[in-house]
Amino acid sequence: MITDTFGRPLRDLRISVTDRCNFRCPYCMPAEIFGESYQFLPKDELLTFEETARLARLFAQLGVNKIRLTGGEPLLRVDLHLLVGMLADIPEIDDFTLTTNGYLLPQQVQQLKDAGLQRITVSLDTLDDDIFKQMNGRGFGTQRVLLGIERAAAVGLSPIKINAVVQKGVNDHTVVDLARHFKGTGHIVRFIEYMDVGNRNGWKWDQVVPAAEIVSRIDAEMPLEPVDSNYRGEVARRYRYRDGQGEIGVIASVTQPFCGDCTRARISTDGKVYTCLFAGNGVSLRDPMRAGASDDDLRELISGIWGRRTDRYSEERTELSDLENAPRKIEMYQIGG
Ligand code: GTP
Ligand code: 5AD
Ligand code: SF4
Ligand code: SF4
Repeated sequence: MITDTFGRPLRDLRISVTDRCNFRCPYCMPAEIFGESYQFLPKDELLTFEETARLARLFAQLGVNKIRLTGGEPLLRVDLHLLVGMLADIPEIDDFTLTTNGYLLPQQVQQLKDAGLQRITVSLDTLDDDIFKQMNGRGFGTQRVLLGIERAAAVGLSPIKINAVVQKGVNDHTVVDLARHFKGTGHIVRFIEYMDVGNRNGWKWDQVVPAAEIVSRIDAEMPLEPVDSNYRGEVARRYRYRDGQGEIGVIASVTQPFCGDCTRARISTDGKVYTCLFAGNGVSLRDPMRAGASDDDLRELISGIWGRRTDRYSEERTELSDLENAPRKIEMYQIGG
């Protein structure tokens, strides 16, 4: 096991498998910037499946027991199920999941399940079709996403989590509906405070609906009580319905940062490791790997990066007086949340 400068172990690995997406959520990939001619990474810059699996095995040997595949939109990566199969074979990994916008799920669930994926998280910010169309920037309705969730449940990719980013004045009036829709289904809706990820989402404090307010709005209609975390460092705070019909979560990274227990490393599509969602620079593992580094060399490199880690951005945000001139950060679509 390796620990960083605050004694935090390395436990979770989030791997971005593509920087492309079929949505254009204004808070992540605004359509006016990511148009037809936008240059995404060329194929030879991406980690191959073999390179990704090799790195994942090395991270697992250093203490990682949870892997999450992300994007962009991971289901756009051609033959993703082959990578899933390779990662599912790593013995140390006991939690293996994927975050998707759900649009391509209906046709892929069976293949992913068969390849060894354990569960999935689907992003769905609202059930209101008009708002959803606006929030995904492509005019797509919710129907296919809901079908994807249904099919994922049918093949046993559970527990299914539904992630909803809440933005004041955009979708915050629809949170109770979203919670109600999934109450009693076994799926867990998690409401995420809108964050200042990347450099271009124009984030302002007044766009954030505090998690406490989200909980109290839902509690007023469907009474809730808090539940203990599943494990130390769990990102979401859990609440269950008092009538026994399931649970929800809130991810309060703005109002109640959780950096103190943060055990997450992220690998971007081009093979750089980032020790924080808000980091400006990553360290390439791909380049030394392609230059012939041995497993020992790579493990040493990763241990060194983690050993020097000092990140606690969400805790520091509160003290940053001039957010607009804060140092440049990695973009959400390069690292997948
Ligand atoms: P479970 O394993 O199902 O508990 O999910 P998780 O909380 O590990 O992962 P998920 O990707 O579903 O996290 C939901 C969202 O929380 C992400 O998309 C981010 O927006 C946010 N989030 C996750 N990890 C971090 C983190 O380390 N820091 C911050 N600030 N936000 C995070
Ligand atoms: N704040 C909070 N969550 C965000 N996501 C994307 N951008 C933001 C943001 N600025 C979410 C997506 C998805 C996950 C990968 O991160 O909606 O659920
Ligand atoms: Fe795509 Fe997710 Fe970014 Fe939306 S938030 S554009 S679905 S990667
Ligand atoms: Fe971890 Fe950085 Fe998120 Fe804090 S802000 S919880 S250090 S990823």
